[in-house]
Amino acid sequence: MSTTTRRGLFLTFEGLDGSGKTTQMRLLAARLREAGETVIETVEPGGTSIGGAIRRILLDPANDHLSSTAEMLLYFAARAQNVDEILTPAIARGEIVISDRWTDSTRAYQGYGRNLGVDVVRDLDRIACRGRKPDITFLIDIDLETGLQRARHRNIETSATDESRMDEQSRAFYERVLEGYQALAAEEPHRVLRINGRGTIEEAAERVWAAYKEFRDRHV
Ligand code: TYD
Repeated sequence: MSTTTRRGLFLTFEGLDGSGKTTQMRLLAARLREAGETVIETVEPGGTSIGGAIRRILLDPANDHLSSTAEMLLYFAARAQNVDEILTPAIARGEIVISDRWTDSTRAYQGYGRNLGVDVVRDLDRIACRGRKPDITFLIDIDLETGLQRARHRNIETSATDESRMDEQSRAFYERVLEGYQALAAEEPHRVLRINGRGTIEEAAERVWAAYKEFRDRHV
């Protein structure tokens, strides 16, 4: 495998709250840098300063009356800013961009979780992202129980009150989110690579790396 990237690459990490995707994303970024790549890490919502302001609105428990449609549009507003400010310029420079969540989250959480449907998510993606799609999406797979437990544990440890709105969602909501991710993986198996997120962090990281290498070998 070549260690230099000739064209930009856009990678995303997806999964339930508590799936460990953020840790895995950081480990992959570090490994790619060791291999000589220039890597930009970003997060949705919140990768830009404007996105950060939008994130605070979205995750503030005081905004529990935020309508589902307004919520979805805010996620896309943050993403549109990210496309212009971070993603497009970095890809043009031939760099690797890795995002913690992207439109697949909106599809799973708003499309399925909030029952807004996948068509509206697809339409808004066309407007906000203008055809920019991830080359690879790592979907970190864990069962609902493990994810909810890990997310709860993390909230207690960090007493993250500002981020608690999302974690108070009902179990039925998360079941629909999981269903959304499973449907996505079935529909786009070449882009969406399912990674077994059980076991140790290192074990999952090896699976991510193996999936990445396999993808690169297929696309050189
Ligand atoms: P995130 O910061 O990734 O939380 P975690 O590290 O716990 O996964 O995401 C915060 C919440 O925002 C998470 O519950 C998922 C939700 N979300 C959506 O509902 N729609 C979206 O489009 C995105 C990007 C996130």
